[in-house]
Amino acid sequence: MSHASAPGKIILFGEHAVVYNRPALAVPVTQVQADVTTDFVETDFFTETRSKTDGGEENWENSLLIEAPDIGLFSTLRALLADSTPHPLATVIIRTLQTVGVTRPPALKIRITSTIPVASGLGSGAAVSVAIIRALSALFEQPLSDEQVNQLAYETEKLHHGTPSGIDNTVITYAKPVYFVRGQPIETFQVGAPFTLVIADTGISAPTKESVGDLKKLWEANKSRWEAVFDQVGGIVKVARKAIESGKWEVLGPLMDANHALLQKMTVSSPELDRLVLAAETAGALGAKLSGGGRGGNLLALVTPASAEQVASALLSAGAKQTLITTIQ
Ligand code: PMV
Repeated sequence: MSHASAPGKIILFGEHAVVYNRPALAVPVTQVQADVTTDFVETDFFTETRSKTDGGEENWENSLLIEAPDIGLFSTLRALLADSTPHPLATVIIRTLQTVGVTRPPALKIRITSTIPVASGLGSGAAVSVAIIRALSALFEQPLSDEQVNQLAYETEKLHHGTPSGIDNTVITYAKPVYFVRGQPIETFQVGAPFTLVIADTGISAPTKESVGDLKKLWEANKSRWEAVFDQVGGIVKVARKAIESGKWEVLGPLMDANHALLQKMTVSSPELDRLVLAAETAGALGAKLSGGGRGGNLLALVTPASAEQVASALLSAGAKQTLITTIQ
């Protein structure tokens, strides 16, 4: 038997500009996590499942069962592969088995649970991938290096999200604050003094692919204008990293506001996000911004430990669907 877990993540600064090779900062969110348990099982266990899903045909993919009760999934690998676009879970399982050189695994069960809200910018997909890769490679006694785990998780992200920068899988694999520059070696950094954030979910699901695609069209129409905006974001990210490392976290408030204004310019905010950012600040947040793809999803508010509850409840009253108070350390 093997088990692995992976945390959620949040982007602090630099989303979108990171796609254009500017740096971004992201941190793990350890209050939420994905858990994966894998175990070899008796083949008999599958007889019933097989006859239900595949007409009993003999194939090792029929003897690999995936259970993800949170999303109501109970399926064989074969059934997941049968769809016209292979299911993300199937892709990551197949690629992990290929990487560890297992071509015909014995009957086994993979159980996936997660407390990371789905499709809300907290990296649930990447966390599930990372946990599957680690649990499955450990089951075959061939644990992979962080670099291999990160690469495999990135390949899965690419298949299902177009052109991701790779920031999600990186911060989740290393489970440390990351200063991320696309295509560059991974750079983690230290948090000089802990700081508190309220993460609030607008409840609006907005595909990152679309906001990234729309911004790309704007960029193509006027590259120099947008490159200048991305440079400004890159400048904010560098100042923010120094502030975090030296424990001067109060400085992050105005930097968040400045980053949010640039994201508004990029057309990736939304009236709901703007309203919630304002509500957080009215309730005492030191700064706030959208986080991730935008147009919906999450926002972040910088708070003192004393004002966290007050800001979280103001956000809920203003229409946020969920809030999470997290300490970054
Ligand atoms: O929506 P999220 O949290 O997965 O973040 C997307 C971040 C972008 O910079 C908009 C896209 C990317 O691939 O980095």
